[in-house]
Amino acid sequence: MTAVPEYVSYARMEELHELQRPRSDVRGELSFLLISHVKELLFRVVISDLDAARTALGDDDLDGACSALARAVRSQGVLTACWESMNGMSADEFVAFRHVLNDASGVQSFVYRTLEFVMGNRPERHTRAALRAGPEQVRAELAKPSLYDAALGHLARQGFAVPEPCLRRPPDRQHEPSTGVEDVWLEVYGDPRRHRGPHRLAECLLEVAYQFSRWRATHLLVVERMLGGKGGTGGTDGAAWLREVNEHRFFPELWTFRTRLEDPEQGRTP
Ligand code: HEM
Repeated sequence: MTAVPEYVSYARMEELHELQRPRSDVRGELSFLLISHVKELLFRVVISDLDAARTALGDDDLDGACSALARAVRSQGVLTACWESMNGMSADEFVAFRHVLNDASGVQSFVYRTLEFVMGNRPERHTRAALRAGPEQVRAELAKPSLYDAALGHLARQGFAVPEPCLRRPPDRQHEPSTGVEDVWLEVYGDPRRHRGPHRLAECLLEVAYQFSRWRATHLLVVERMLGGKGGTGGTDGAAWLREVNEHRFFPELWTFRTRLEDPEQGRTP
């Protein structure tokens, strides 16, 4: 009997390669399945780094939080690059096996939903569904403050005037954009040398949000390339629905405060 090499047994490679089982003979389906699995696993890598950042922020460990956020950004870059591989499939190949998906859609990915919840996008339509029928890990996530909540809590402990309702909101509710939080970021960016730590944190958070939006925007392009104006298997109207999702920004005040940012030397908007 030949011994199974440690590489194969340690990482359970045989089981792993059993998982991609195309339902058609169309060439593109195997790549589609492989990339879908790779992406799901990368979602978990990002969740694990964002979770570490959140824990570090709870301990007011800014260095630890920023290192974890920087690691997440690297994996987010890989996630976006994965779309390149998917684009190797032509629209005629995709349409030739699309029927085997039935109503399967990424919108049903509970790992992706967990990732959005960790980041802080917790709209009622998703939280209600997750609390009613989601797996334990998604429900557990909704009992925790989000990464953005943890960042705001850290800023409040550093003496910034984060509005109380933002700090006391039940974790399963959506963070609503707040002028008070915008004011906090404005204060930080108004004097970055004085607020070095919070400024660094803001730049790290913004990079994570930027990379997330880049992934969404590229997904939309792939969807247009494969489907044109067709509806999605998940029951939405496809690209039009995703275009609306693309409007959403994580950590909203980190994007909006910039409109009010002025050059302190000039006392006017640059
Ligand atoms: C040919 C490739 C793909 C097409 C045409 C496509 C199409 C779509 C469409 C139309 C939607 C909207 C929901 C629906 O009605 O289905 C959607 C959502 C989604 N897709 Fe894809 N998709 C593709 C590949 C992927 C891959 C590889 C992943 C990663 C595992 C993925 C992840 C998602 C996620 C997470 C959503 C939900 C987004 C949200 O809730 O904001 N998609 N996709």
